[in-house]
Amino acid sequence: MECNTHTSMLIVVLMMILSSCCYSQAQLSSDFYSESCPSLFPAVRRVVQRAVARERRMAASLLRLFFHDCFVNGCDGSILLDDTSSFVGEKTAGPNNNSVRGFEVIDRIKSRVERLCPGVVSCADILAITARDSVLLLGGPRWSVKLGRRDSTTASLSAANSGVIPPPTSTLTNLINRFRAQGLSSRDMVALSGAHTIGQARCVTFRNRIYNGSNIDRSFALSTQRSCPAATGSGDNNAAVLDSRSPGRFDVSYYKRLLNHMGLLTSDQVLFNGGSTDSLVIAYSRSLNRFYRDFVRAMIKMGDISPLTGSNGQIRTNCRRPN
Ligand code: HEM
Ligand SMILES: *[C@@H]1O[C@H](CO)[C@@H](O)[C@H](O)[C@H]1NC(C)=O
Ligand SMILES: *[C@@H]1O[C@H](CO)[C@@H](O)[C@H](O)[C@H]1NC(C)=O
Repeated sequence: MECNTHTSMLIVVLMMILSSCCYSQAQLSSDFYSESCPSLFPAVRRVVQRAVARERRMAASLLRLFFHDCFVNGCDGSILLDDTSSFVGEKTAGPNNNSVRGFEVIDRIKSRVERLCPGVVSCADILAITARDSVLLLGGPRWSVKLGRRDSTTASLSAANSGVIPPPTSTLTNLINRFRAQGLSSRDMVALSGAHTIGQARCVTFRNRIYNGSNIDRSFALSTQRSCPAATGSGDNNAAVLDSRSPGRFDVSYYKRLLNHMGLLTSDQVLFNGGSTDSLVIAYSRSLNRFYRDFVRAMIKMGDISPLTGSNGQIRTNCRRPN
């Protein structure tokens, strides 16, 4: 009897200590919706699968959405908000305008999930799951995605334009600094840049490099010029694949291309240009396992950037607007 009382008192004290130390620092967890929305994962996967079967590039676009969400005020679904009378959102910001895509797919996922578990799953978490599923569908690594983020009620055009998302003309130093500002190491940065093993970029983002750039393979530059005219304003939106060897496969050929001076963006080639990240590019080009291991670790870290948790933010019913 007495022993039981002592034990339960001990448990109460332990729980008080635990809650006082850890409550405010709510943590994301992979089983966050296991009771409140048990069929969440298959529901998301089905929509992503269908979208990627229709257009393989969509996997790349969905992965990029998550990156651009997380780098602007944290992973809070802010990129999904349309402009309102009280704020101009992130969609028309320099790095996003005429460039980020996949919003309709997120809408489809959200309405499906709302039918299953109304008001439970955040748009920010849907972006995280969608990014994971997209990578897996193109043959990339699988990981357990952490959940429990809530959605912002506002978005900021100026934050999205402030340079937190580095431009494709970035130097290596700028890339390292921009990622460090988000708590990501230069190793994380090089591994995450491996996302450019899939998807496309517009002429306007690499024109300067293919006409005037250094450290670029001559025949690669010439062949890329064919669909990207030199004159500013002509063919700006013509797209080229970021990894011309296997644009639809999540592999290490992006890094192999860098060794051959065939990075499409300046910000790609600076990773292998005689600087501090050369050795990592070489390592990833040789080892799919090493690339996958570091990419997964960095994706989880990126997904941890300033989430809204607890009673902060909300669970939007429509990802495009606050409730
Ligand atoms: C290191 C700094 C980075 C820079 C400077 C950068 C820049 C760019 C640019 C300029 C484009 C083409 C956009 C356009 O044509 O309008 C692009 C595409 C893309 N980026 Fe990045 N990016 C970076 C890092 C990342 C990261 C961390 C990810 C994800 C983990 C990512 C995923 C993608 C994907 C998948 C595409 C292709 C999207 C599509 O085809 O729709 N990028 N990036
Ligand atoms: C975004 O792109 C559209 C269409 O090209 C253009 O009309 C608009 O001015 C751009 N917005 C910004 C803020 O640059
Ligand atoms: C290449 O550089 C020259 C000289 O700086 C410049 O006049 C020209 O516009 C550049 N071309 C492209 C396509 O960027």
